[in-house]
Amino acid sequence: MTTDSADEYVLDTPTVRAFVASVRAAIASAASPAQACDAIRPGFAELLADPDWLASEYARDAPESGMGGGIGQWALYRAEDGSLSLFSLVVPSGSETPVHDHLAWGLVGLYRGTQDEEIFARERGALRLSERRALGPGDFYALIPPADDIHRVRTTSAETSVSIHLLTNDTGCVWRHAYDPASGEERPFRSGYVNVDCR
Ligand SMILES: [Fe+2]
Repeated sequence: MTTDSADEYVLDTPTVRAFVASVRAAIASAASPAQACDAIRPGFAELLADPDWLASEYARDAPESGMGGGIGQWALYRAEDGSLSLFSLVVPSGSETPVHDHLAWGLVGLYRGTQDEEIFARERGALRLSERRALGPGDFYALIPPADDIHRVRTTSAETSVSIHLLTNDTGCVWRHAYDPASGEERPFRSGYVNVDCR
């Protein structure tokens, strides 16, 4: 791991450094999150298509994780000021995340395996399933809350799924929310990371 004045590169490789630098430049020159996401798209697609950059240790499931179900959330990079993070989310076959939110905009895409994603809308305190979509390797989307910020993913492939998240907060360490989809009840939720502590 390398830490400099502003950034913590847990996976410290030229690929990750170049990607983060391009993201920083895109955010600095964009007038809105949507514009920044558009500018980041090509580089993010390249990352998802590159079979070599994600070291295997960050594609492992994690029996003792905050997400439950053997789900591993591995920090790859995070900004010291909490303004940006890159992490992998590893969901074993048949496991699913709690219904949760993210509270930050960014890009999320699938690197390995397949997932079903269920997106929920909040209506008068209740949750309504608003969309269900199947994701395969290379599929990704821009997440710009509050739209579509509440979801749950389940791995549908026999192999563990690995998704890559680039979000404009320290997602593993901020307090966000998990939801009971039946009642709509929310509870404070902090997923943590398997490999780094929250500051
Ligand atoms: Fe999520």
